Amino acid sequence: MSALIKIDNKEFNFPVMTGTEGEKAIDARNLRKDTGYIFYDQGYGNTGSCESAVTFLDGDNGILRHRGYSIDQLAAHSEFVETAYLIIYGELPTLDQRKAFGQLLRKNAHIETQMQEIFKGFPKDAPPMAMLSSIANALAAHYPELATNNFEKDLKQFDLAAAIALSKIRTIGAMIYRHTQGLPFMHPKDLPFCDNFLHMMFSEPYQEYVSIPEVTKALNLILLMHADHEQNCSTSTVRMVGSSGANLFTSISAGINALSGPLHGGANVAVMQMLQSIHDEGDDGTRFIEAAKGGSKSNRLMGFGHAVYRNFDPRAKVIGEACDGVLKKLGKSDPLLDIAKNLEQAALKDDYFVSRKLYPNVDFYSGIIFRALGIPTNMFTVMFAIGRTPGWIANWKEVASNPKGRIYRPRQIFVGATPRAYVPIAQRS
Ligand code: CMC
Repeated sequence: MSALIKIDNKEFNFPVMTGTEGEKAIDARNLRKDTGYIFYDQGYGNTGSCESAVTFLDGDNGILRHRGYSIDQLAAHSEFVETAYLIIYGELPTLDQRKAFGQLLRKNAHIETQMQEIFKGFPKDAPPMAMLSSIANALAAHYPELATNNFEKDLKQFDLAAAIALSKIRTIGAMIYRHTQGLPFMHPKDLPFCDNFLHMMFSEPYQEYVSIPEVTKALNLILLMHADHEQNCSTSTVRMVGSSGANLFTSISAGINALSGPLHGGANVAVMQMLQSIHDEGDDGTRFIEAAKGGSKSNRLMGFGHAVYRNFDPRAKVIGEACDGVLKKLGKSDPLLDIAKNLEQAALKDDYFVSRKLYPNVDFYSGIIFRALGIPTNMFTVMFAIGRTPGWIANWKEVASNPKGRIYRPRQIFVGATPRAYVPIAQRS
């Protein structure tokens, strides 16, 4: 099968590609060479930038699968580190592989004294995501032998670099929290991934954090929900930066920056601010819904809508359902959860949201769980980054391992000035 494109009465044939889930694409790699035209696709919403075997997403039907396993199955049976292994290595680990991976993560949890010094350069109120991306990139400076910017060499050390990225970004996240609170760092112990994070966040010099199974389980679930999500803005950024030959840590650092924006990972903070302000004003959310219908980007109903899901976000369904259970198990109640539920019900009945197929996304309820775990709002996007690290690692690996890979280099439609003569400054009016 091929696709026929007719331009100025001339016909051009392009091959058609089909993915393993039946996704169809026109292979337009020779389009410009053959026709002199490019496709204009602002935001790349209709452009397949790569072939990937990591995650399948069908936004129309609310399907999300990592390496063939549905997000529902993983949520019900797996935990974050196992899913991270699956995403990075392509298969669920055997018992021995799982143990070895866990040990490698524990062995690489510590942030060396020299790197801890970096924090001294940041004010206490520095934005957490700015600190996270800086220190993630500092990993490339600290481990130059793992970050040579030579794919062949970097891939030989991939297992170690991947474990360092996953384990240390989690540790750096906890250190950022301690720094912003003016508390001394708590160093990692020989603990499972999530318990170690909670220890580094909440232990005090004379009072160790005591693991609460419900808290560990909830954290596991929420990190797993964020573990990968196809070619989203930050993952595409990781691939784009990686395509230049850049090492894993530098590529991830770029992804962290992409994630920080309010339309992407930063949305979980914006949702919480929105719910809090509805609560503080004693409103029931009607005013917010009405303002969101105005069409302005700065007034959107945060946590609603998605670039690819047009039915429902399966992650939001799992997290939304978990919310009540987590709060109940922790013996907590949160008025913001009631506001979120009312807001969801009202929006789902409102023609503006229904006709545009706008549903709650992963960020709508995740903040309520983070809050119940004692994680402050300014740390929410850092939590998203810790969760998304496996996806970034797996996508960087695909780029680095592809012998036919090219540097990402889109084209543009130039709409600026046409040629004109230079005017000396004295003659300019
Ligand atoms: N509130 C009100 N109106 C909205 C919203 C919203 N949250 N989202 C989209 N719309 C409107 C938009 O104004 C447009 O209306 P019209 O057709 O009249 O111009 C229509 O719905 C279609 O929207 P779009 O701009 O085509 O949607 P998009 O695919 O460009 O944007 C989005 C997707 C996620 C950026 C957007 O829905 C949004 O800004 N949502 C709020 C921020 C948010 O929750 N982001 C988290 C995304 S999930 C986590 C992640 O993976 O990063």
